[in-house]
Amino acid sequence: MDLKGKKAFIMGIGDDQGYGFAIAKALAEAGAQIILGTWVPIYKIFTTSWNAGKFDLSRKLKNGLLLELEKVYPIDVTFDQPEDVPQSIKENKRYYCYSHYTLSEVASKVEEDFGEIDIFVHALANAPEVKKPLLETSREGYLSAISSSAYSFVSGIQYFGPLMSQGGAALNLTYIASERAIPGYGGGMSSAKAALESDTRTLAFEAGRKWGIRINAISAGALNSRAARAIGFIDKMIEYAHQNAPLSKELKAEEVGNASCFLLSSFASAITGVTLYVDNGLHAMGIATDHFSCAKEKTLLQNA
Ligand SMILES: NC(=O)c1ccc[n+]([C@@H]2O[C@H](COP(=O)([O-])OP(=O)(O)OC[C@H]3O[C@@H](n4cnc5c(N)ncnc54)[C@H](O)[C@@H]3O)[C@@H](O)[C@H]2O)c1
Repeated sequence: MDLKGKKAFIMGIGDDQGYGFAIAKALAEAGAQIILGTWVPIYKIFTTSWNAGKFDLSRKLKNGLLLELEKVYPIDVTFDQPEDVPQSIKENKRYYCYSHYTLSEVASKVEEDFGEIDIFVHALANAPEVKKPLLETSREGYLSAISSSAYSFVSGIQYFGPLMSQGGAALNLTYIASERAIPGYGGGMSSAKAALESDTRTLAFEAGRKWGIRINAISAGALNSRAARAIGFIDKMIEYAHQNAPLSKELKAEEVGNASCFLLSSFASAITGVTLYVDNGLHAMGIATDHFSCAKEKTLLQNA
């Protein structure tokens, strides 16, 4: 895949562990320039760690070069316009050194600095009550999950769509809890992912007609990222996938990076409005094979 000369804006990278970082590497390996939006409260630690060389090992690309960043903007995707930022946030010790971090302002700055962009990636999610079952989730917690994890994509496309080149592409990351019950993935996160997938289809139509861009989602399998660790049982989810997916192997962030690179490249020029599973096939299963203890059933399943 050749993305030379393409500019990619990725929001949702705060370390080298998550899917966003893997997508940045895959896009850079294909030749794209990488521009980031990093959450305000972790902006300083991320940029300081980056400059101190803490990520140098992970930055290594297949061609031996290091992943380079054109620019990192502080961003908070829960705010669209400067007037949306409450005084308490402006004065918060993790925010007061920063300005212009709302979605509209970051889009304007990216336009000022880079003109057009070709690729837009939404690799973030947040839910303050993620550990609570939906039945115990407050209205505030639920709306916060939807705001930062789903509406942020809609708003992102509203503000970045006009900057995108004809034939450009946007991508978000979702999870199968949108369509199947995953106990423990709470706080309205499953609802937010369902909204995100539905919005992917509607935005594919609207943004496709308006700007000629493509909008897709990747439904990724479990990965031990910082965000996933906050949910509290990620190791169990990874082990479950290993035991029960058609492909019984580790799911590497790199594999999601590669699939993203494909969807964001001209190889996928007729693909839009799609949610592509990149999960070693776990979504296709109807039963958990590790549940069977009887030897005869096990042999049947293994030979099937
Ligand atoms: N890890 C998994 O098992 C898994 C599985 C399927 C889908 N996903 C999705 O992948 C995406 C990336 O998550 P990840 O698991 O790689 O973790 P991650 O920790 O690398 O990424 C989450 C990012 O969201 C950012 N963020 C949170 N609130 C924000 C805000 N208000 N404004 C700006 N940024 C904000 C965080 O700073 C962090 O960088 C998410 O959409 C997640 O739901 C993850």
